[in-house]
Amino acid sequence: MNRKKPLRIGYVGSGFIAQFLTVALTQVRDVELTAIYDRGGAEKLAEYAKKNGLGEPVLYSTVKEMCNHCDAIAIYSPNYTRLAVMEEIADAVKEGAPLKGVICEKPLGRTLAEAQRMADLAKEANLLTAYFENQLHMNVINNALHQLRPQQRAMGPFTLARSTEEHAGPHNSWFWDPVRQGGGVLSDMGCHSIAVGRYILTPEDKDLLFLEPVSVQCDTSLLKWGQPKYQKVLMDTYGVDYSKAPAEDFATGIITYKNPETGQLVKSQFTDSWMYDKQGMRLSMDALGPGYAMEVNTLISPVEIFVGDEAASSVADAETALEKSTATRGLLAVQPNEADLYGYTTETRDMVNSFLNGKDAFLNFDYGVQVTYLVQAAYMAAEKGVTLDLTDQKVQEELKSYRSLIAQGKGAEVLY
Ligand SMILES: NC(=O)c1ccc[n+]([C@@H]2O[C@H](COP(=O)([O-])OP(=O)(O)OC[C@H]3O[C@@H](n4cnc5c(N)ncnc54)[C@H](O)[C@@H]3O)[C@@H](O)[C@H]2O)c1
Repeated sequence: MNRKKPLRIGYVGSGFIAQFLTVALTQVRDVELTAIYDRGGAEKLAEYAKKNGLGEPVLYSTVKEMCNHCDAIAIYSPNYTRLAVMEEIADAVKEGAPLKGVICEKPLGRTLAEAQRMADLAKEANLLTAYFENQLHMNVINNALHQLRPQQRAMGPFTLARSTEEHAGPHNSWFWDPVRQGGGVLSDMGCHSIAVGRYILTPEDKDLLFLEPVSVQCDTSLLKWGQPKYQKVLMDTYGVDYSKAPAEDFATGIITYKNPETGQLVKSQFTDSWMYDKQGMRLSMDALGPGYAMEVNTLISPVEIFVGDEAASSVADAETALEKSTATRGLLAVQPNEADLYGYTTETRDMVNSFLNGKDAFLNFDYGVQVTYLVQAAYMAAEKGVTLDLTDQKVQEELKSYRSLIAQGKGAEVLY
């Protein structure tokens, strides 16, 4: 069999998600990690890549230089650095770098304008794009959808999808700063839940954007981290002041979509929190159609371990047992292959195959813009305390330049 020439990728950002996606990379063929931007954890990541046969990554001190040594650049740096990195990539291509594609982790932008600019820059530079939204690539979701297609054909599509992502709070200070991150948990994780809800509701063989958003309701609240005791924890741990510039640690809402062929209305409910004090991160999705249903809960694993008090010191590494693990003793959930469970492996494989075949990935930057649109609409609905009419052209226009009060650092006005 003829193997393809591998896709050479370079990372900008070598923190939490870059490490996770590198574990995924070990489960994908035809790809090499050849370059890493030299900052925060780059050396450790390069060592891991070498040990695991992923390539011999070279560390570079400029993004521009990296573009001359890769086929695709992956933007895994914090949200507030996105645009500057993308601008550097676009400039490098203009100056002749032979780059073919660009990958960007969620969210594509902190605002709709930022996300649109990312997509425009990629287009101007003639780059293939991959928007990394792992939940649409989860095998558990796609398998359930595949199994239920015959029932859908017979009975009609799903009418309600509920999607939830919750954990006890992010691992780095910039996530907690609403200005640098773009908001709180709705910006950080609502993008996943909103995207996967719409995806589950989308009928078989229809475009990802087939369902038309009609309206959105949303509530953003500060349930745990606004209490003085926890404000102090945030100040001491991350240097952020939640008494002055808080972000929401809980968000929930409903988006109503219309099927443009039948006129049927369907609903997607999303819930996201940073105050889920249980074993670790939980993704849960369920959906109901007429006479059939599906349900996913990532805390249910075929593996569990027990560590009693006496033996507690022997826990090897709680974070390799489960993302955002909060405990090291008791009855613990362990996931044997989280990179695969959460969809990182499948999304990476899709990107590699798509780019090698000269195509955008399954989810491209234009799709990322649409997710940002719905996330920002949810902020606007919560801020105004209304059900936002997404068919209203005035609302659509307003969203183009909208930045939520929370993202402006004025969260105290809406959360206290
Ligand atoms: N898909 C998911 O479930 C998921 C999970 C976590 C994070 N993410 C996304 O991935 C991105 C990175 O998150 P993370 O958790 O890895 O963050 P992190 O803070 O753990 O790591 C960020 C990395 O970027 C580097 N960096 C910082 N400033 C930079 C700059 N100006 N230029 C280049 N590199 C810079 C840091 O040194 C570090 O290596 C975020 O956009 C986040 O939303 C996605």
